Amino acid sequence: MPQIIRIENVPDFVGQTVTLQGWLYAKTGKGKLQFLQIRDGSGFIQGVMFRPNLPPEVFEAGKRLTLESSIIVTGVVKADERAKGIPAGFELDVTDLQTVQVADEYPITPKEHGIDFLMDHRHLWIRSRRQWAILRVRTRVMRAIREWLDSHGYLEMTTPIFTPAAGEGTTTLFEADYFGEPVYLAQTGQLYNEANIYSFGKVYCFGPTFRAEKSKTRRHMTEFWMVEPETAYQDLDGLMEMEEQFISYIVQQCLADCRAELEILERDTASLEGISPPFPRISYDEALDKLAEIRAETADPELKELLEIEWGSDFGAPHETELTKLYDKPLFVYGYPTACKAFYMEPWPGRPDVCKSVDLLASEGYGEIIGGSERIADLELIKQKIEHDQLPPEAFEWYVQLRQFGSVPHSGFGLGVERAVAWICGIHHIRETNPFPRTLGRVYP
Ligand code: 4AD
Ligand code: MG
Repeated sequence: MPQIIRIENVPDFVGQTVTLQGWLYAKTGKGKLQFLQIRDGSGFIQGVMFRPNLPPEVFEAGKRLTLESSIIVTGVVKADERAKGIPAGFELDVTDLQTVQVADEYPITPKEHGIDFLMDHRHLWIRSRRQWAILRVRTRVMRAIREWLDSHGYLEMTTPIFTPAAGEGTTTLFEADYFGEPVYLAQTGQLYNEANIYSFGKVYCFGPTFRAEKSKTRRHMTEFWMVEPETAYQDLDGLMEMEEQFISYIVQQCLADCRAELEILERDTASLEGISPPFPRISYDEALDKLAEIRAETADPELKELLEIEWGSDFGAPHETELTKLYDKPLFVYGYPTACKAFYMEPWPGRPDVCKSVDLLASEGYGEIIGGSERIADLELIKQKIEHDQLPPEAFEWYVQLRQFGSVPHSGFGLGVERAVAWICGIHHIRETNPFPRTLGRVYP
């Protein structure tokens, strides 16, 4: 019996007879020569069926195979420079083939399908090469996140999904019925990590996050994955240093391990190669000046209008896009107006209308991938903020208490996995970066 291997390992088996377990994703050929495009989850390879090399009935069955039929294929691994598989440069000379199931007529064909059709068939669409590539990058990003944090002294703490109150503003809460009491799906695990740092110093949570975002944009999901590190005794500068190291590591790991995937996606990787610390840093005020300059220079009336912004407002996608186009690395914008950020952010010394917040805007127009800040450490100040923002004091009692027992300066951030993956993959819409995305108007399949 030949050894069963995965396609990713074929380079180790040149000249040997092996068995692959997978699916047929394309078929061409005529007469006594048939080309089977086989995938098994780990890679893609062309299987060549030459009639004299197979039992006649097996050859005939192979010829009749439909797309997405499940097959167990045995053959000899051949090195061939021109072979386009993944890994590239190998083919299989098929000697035997067993059909596990002959697939029904597959609804997704090489012709163009509309996005709604593809999303309705997401359970099948994830098999396609492009989706395979994106989702493989996603898993590499998720692994890199954990690698970096685990090797820098961070402990992964799980934080609850049922929460008694808003962490990031009351307008995007999903309510659930908790035995008759209202609770909310977590918008962030941060507040719990602010408790966890007093036990462990450096922690992170990593999991699904829920926002009832009414925004139907290419950057918004209602359920997305966020990693949130929190660090005791870390100020805003320390936070930015950490973020640039963290992001650079993630990007470099993807470049090292996901070359084939990025090639499928036709990602121009040149702009990713240079991503290493330090990243440029500008204040919100400076960003506003730059936007004013762009507005003054552009001849495009639509852009002029889109970029209009008054001091105090948060940036929209067009502002972020234009700002990042000025730099070839991700850009830190720090010191946002207090009014447009969450309640827990430390005020800027001497400027109470500004807070020690920082967003990281991904290059090439991708915009915010990280939001973070130094947190309020002072007891009286946090009480005032909760009152000012009209948050329910009972729900925040425990959070306030953290400022009573050994309070320290601390900071942290949240990275949205889908936005990071969209940027690294160079794709337009984040819906393709999650296996089963949840967006405004879509919870199926
Ligand atoms: O800026 P946000 O809202 O920050 C927080 O939630 C903080 N509690 C994080 C922290 O300091 N621990 O969200 C952080 C990141 C954003 O930069 C973005 O990448 C992602 O989460 N994100 C979304 N991604 C997809 N769809 C949405 N609706 C998102 N909202 C935020
Ligand atoms: Mg934000």
